[in-house]
Amino acid sequence: MALCLFFLAPMSSVGIGIRDTNTVFSKKPKPEVRKQLKRLNKPALKTIESPDGDIIDCVDIYNQPAFDHPLLKNHTIKMRPSSYPEGFSFDESNDVSSNSKPEITQPWHLNGSCPEGTIPIRRTKEKDLLRAYYGKKKLSTIHDETDTSIHEISEEGDRYYGLNAEINVWNPAVMAQDEFSLAQFWVAGVDNRNVIDTIEAGIMVYHDMYHDYETHIFIFWTSDGYGSTGCYNLECPGFVQVDNRIVLGASVTPYSVYGGEQHSLNFFIWKDDLGGGDWWLYLSHRYLLGYWPASLFSIMAGSATYVSWGGEVTNEQIGGQHTTTQMGSGHFAEEATNRASFFQNLKVMDAHQVLRGPRNSRRSVTAPNCYNLLKHEDFFYFGGPGRSLQCP
Ligand SMILES: *[C@@H]1O[C@H](CO)[C@@H](O)[C@H](O)[C@H]1NC(C)=O
Ligand SMILES: *[C@@H]1O[C@H](CO)[C@@H](O)[C@H](O)[C@H]1NC(C)=O
Repeated sequence: MALCLFFLAPMSSVGIGIRDTNTVFSKKPKPEVRKQLKRLNKPALKTIESPDGDIIDCVDIYNQPAFDHPLLKNHTIKMRPSSYPEGFSFDESNDVSSNSKPEITQPWHLNGSCPEGTIPIRRTKEKDLLRAYYGKKKLSTIHDETDTSIHEISEEGDRYYGLNAEINVWNPAVMAQDEFSLAQFWVAGVDNRNVIDTIEAGIMVYHDMYHDYETHIFIFWTSDGYGSTGCYNLECPGFVQVDNRIVLGASVTPYSVYGGEQHSLNFFIWKDDLGGGDWWLYLSHRYLLGYWPASLFSIMAGSATYVSWGGEVTNEQIGGQHTTTQMGSGHFAEEATNRASFFQNLKVMDAHQVLRGPRNSRRSVTAPNCYNLLKHEDFFYFGGPGRSLQCP
């Protein structure tokens, strides 16, 4: 594994099958899967059946998966950060009388809501635990074995205590069930060019994980460079959720329309150093989703050293051809306003606790004939159609 310095290690130590240097999947024996399901799916105080097939369990907030983490056994849940970051507006008023339409809807909202004191969790099914797992290929300088393609803006060289990203919501076409297309941010703790800690969030289409081709909101974290820790959403203990309205891993609508109305989700994460150093996640200035306790991390218990924003797709190269899986809106960055997918309001909270735009950032495009990225001051357009005459 020539590339194994970065991001490429398997997720589980049990029964790993290695497909190539960049892609790893795990096959766990059935009894282990059942045990894991039992551990993951906490008793529900209320269950909501979503029209898209998801089962949403409203789980006692004190009984959520996070507290299965050995480091969080005695953890006292926090419902709020100890303070709010300067320069960031947050409106948690749940004012239904205001006629501003809610920015975020999820299919299960049609069929109920979770009571105070619970959090909504997408129930994990057996097939969820048997799927492929991809680690990020970033920071690797070798691209010719690429089976994931990353187009992003990144910055390093400072200490980072927060990040903002407003991500345009599209529903890119994905060619195969085990391919994905995503738009996300990465906040990482890198030591000597080895990625150790990451916090990641964004939106993705990934049939193997969600059993449909809708666009889903997700979070991800690892604390050992995608080794034995880390997973999506609440599938392993770590992230402490406090919000009762948003299901991590459920689909989010509405999607943007080509040449028409645009929709976006704002992601803001911020390290609450006065309150123990936990990394809080806010969605669209309105939902305080929860936090990653500082104790999960080593480097990022202090601060992050690397940030990036961008899109990633997998490329199965079936029959030696590039995948037709789209990135972003499926249109190249040059098409710009209302047609190409954007990231905007790119910001980092720097060592002076100041929220600022990216500085000396690096643009990275691994498959420029298939997807591209055009950077402006604090926003960029990115994406493309995948296979075409220029991208055979
Ligand atoms: C939790 O508390 C118990 C009892 O005080 C203690 O023995 C244990 O070491 C603590 N665990 C952690 C992870 O702090
Ligand atoms: C969810 O609610 C919608 C709208 O009220 C209804 O049409 C649908 O049958 C419900 N679905 C389930 C699974 O309960």
